[in-house]
Amino acid sequence: MKKKLTRKGILLAGGHGTRFYPATRSISKQLLPVYDKPMLYYPLSTLMLAGIQEILLITWPHEIELFQKLLGDGSQWGIHLEYTTQVAPRGIAEAFILAESFINNDSVCLILGDNILYGDGIAAILQEANASEEKGTIFGYYVHDPERYGVIEFDAFDQPINIIEKPTHASSHYAAIGLYFFDNEAIEIAKSLTPSNRGELEVTDMSRYYLQQQKLNIIKLGRGVAWLDTGTPSSWLEASNFIQILEHRQGLKIGCPEEVALRMGYINKAQLIELAKPLLKSGYGQYLEQLVK
Ligand code: G1P
Repeated sequence: MKKKLTRKGILLAGGHGTRFYPATRSISKQLLPVYDKPMLYYPLSTLMLAGIQEILLITWPHEIELFQKLLGDGSQWGIHLEYTTQVAPRGIAEAFILAESFINNDSVCLILGDNILYGDGIAAILQEANASEEKGTIFGYYVHDPERYGVIEFDAFDQPINIIEKPTHASSHYAAIGLYFFDNEAIEIAKSLTPSNRGELEVTDMSRYYLQQQKLNIIKLGRGVAWLDTGTPSSWLEASNFIQILEHRQGLKIGCPEEVALRMGYINKAQLIELAKPLLKSGYGQYLEQLVK
């Protein structure tokens, strides 16, 4: 019988957050709240929703304790969390090298700690990407300012032909979002990279490698999906407002790891009640409590 594909998750919470200074001088941006919960809860929920339960969090050495205090070993949410450090901002692709022993022989999914993904149908898209045996899967999202991102170029037949990191003039509106599903070769590909002009090992170079090898599946996310940027104070506030409006209107939370854990069957209702108990003074805890009612 064929071995079931296991995919490890990487949650990258690095970067200096300089576009957010002075707020992020003493604390990681990913620990700041986006409306009612830490920013990191959103990408963590995304990984959990995809079906990934073994996750490595990569952050600065001096921040690791803060993240551990917030998330522990993950067992409370039915997942397994490990931690490691990135000592210098050497690029997103370095994460695959730092995570080598953690990934071991498995495939991998990396998400950036400041990426928020929301939308009807997104769970199915993520679960399909996770279960897929494609060598690589990335996601394109239509934005008005593609030059700020890795940009996916398409030919006249809508076939992807290139991926370029922050081009001066983008030839398409599709940004590559900060979510990458790669096979085990990702480790070796990352090791073979040379630093870009900004001195970083670029994940875009990895995606381009998979594309050139005809091993890359690019999924365009439709207009019903929200991919939110939290990189600057304005985009962070917009993301907070977006979350607040939807949560208030529906009475349902976005990016709630406890709820995802329950719905994915990682924990049961009794465990959820225990998780809610110390949080009952906040709307967050009250939400958890009413989920089981
Ligand atoms: C990084 C990637 C870029 C991607 C973006 C998504 O950009 O390099 O390709 O589109 O994340 O958030 P950075 O955050 O390094 O500017």
